[in-house]
Amino acid sequence: MDKKVTVIGAGNVGATAAQRLAEKDLCDVVLIDIVEGVPQGKALDLIEAAPVEKHDARIIGTNGYEDSAGSDIVIITAGIPRKPGMSRDDLISTNAGIIKSVTEQVVQLSPDTILIIVSNPLDAMCQVAYQVSGFPKNRVMGMAGVLDSARFRAFISMELNVSVENTHAFVLGGHGDTMVPLPRYSTVAGIPITELLSEDRINALVERTRNGGAEIVGLLGTSAYYAPASAAVEMAESILKDKKKILPCAAYLEGEYGINELFMGVPVKLGSGGVEEIIEITLSDDEQAALQKSADAVQELKNVLKKLGV
Ligand SMILES: NC(=O)c1ccc[n+]([C@@H]2O[C@H](COP(=O)([O-])OP(=O)(O)OC[C@H]3O[C@@H](n4cnc5c(N)ncnc54)[C@H](O)[C@@H]3O)[C@@H](O)[C@H]2O)c1
Repeated sequence: MDKKVTVIGAGNVGATAAQRLAEKDLCDVVLIDIVEGVPQGKALDLIEAAPVEKHDARIIGTNGYEDSAGSDIVIITAGIPRKPGMSRDDLISTNAGIIKSVTEQVVQLSPDTILIIVSNPLDAMCQVAYQVSGFPKNRVMGMAGVLDSARFRAFISMELNVSVENTHAFVLGGHGDTMVPLPRYSTVAGIPITELLSEDRINALVERTRNGGAEIVGLLGTSAYYAPASAAVEMAESILKDKKKILPCAAYLEGEYGINELFMGVPVKLGSGGVEEIIEITLSDDEQAALQKSADAVQELKNVLKKLGV
């Protein structure tokens, strides 16, 4: 393979992302974790699946960073996930330290890489990686909107009994309780769902999307990983293949949507340059107010980071 993606954190999301990257034949994969044996064991297991899955991706599991040198993309999933009753924001002090140390090590050996952050609280962890890496803003982004939109799409397709492939959805804002699903921009075969569903039903789907992460934590006892891994890999694929997909991602805003110096979920164009463009769609007053409320919540986390000295 002529592309290399390093996945940091060989837990549920990281290992599943490594599997999807390899099985889609996108790149060689380096899987890194601090726990000895885990990345090596999972990598070996994936290597042994390759003859059956029919791919030739090289997969390395390791506790060091040497093999990650020259990565095209680094996906960071290291950190602790939520337990029932916890919010994403409860993870901030533990995960900020982890993201700081991981980013410092990544950038030494892959100074030109593109960082896709997955660890929570997402928007704040993007901020840490951005500050610590010193990378330009186009090379640091977070995965949340693709996942939240996929959840909204899954619920729309179940509600209307139509193929998920016909659905399209946009969920913007911070990756938390204040996320902003946009029904006007969410469609089935190009038809806005506002023309297909009653306001009550849309509100119910929006609410289920907002609580999509917590619903799974409640069932599983830990956070989701199949859909999160799929979402991170869709972003990586768009970058690796320079597809220039428009996807909702956490990007560093400098005035777009009236928001300054914060990572927030907005539609971006993802290509070989990373975040190549931030797309500004027209929002109603209510939608803009919801986005601002979400930005306020992300700003609060940024203030917490400052207090933590990160
Ligand atoms: N952005 C999203 O939409 C989204 C979705 C799901 C999960 N998450 C977040 O992703 C993170 C990972 O979730 P998970 O379910 O895979 O958790 P997990 O516990 O299964 O895996 C995390 C892994 O990180 C490793 N790790 C911890 N510190 C490390 C370090 N310094 N260097 C390398 N590895 C380290 C752990 O050993 C563990 O294997 C959590 O913070 C979770 O909240 C985000």
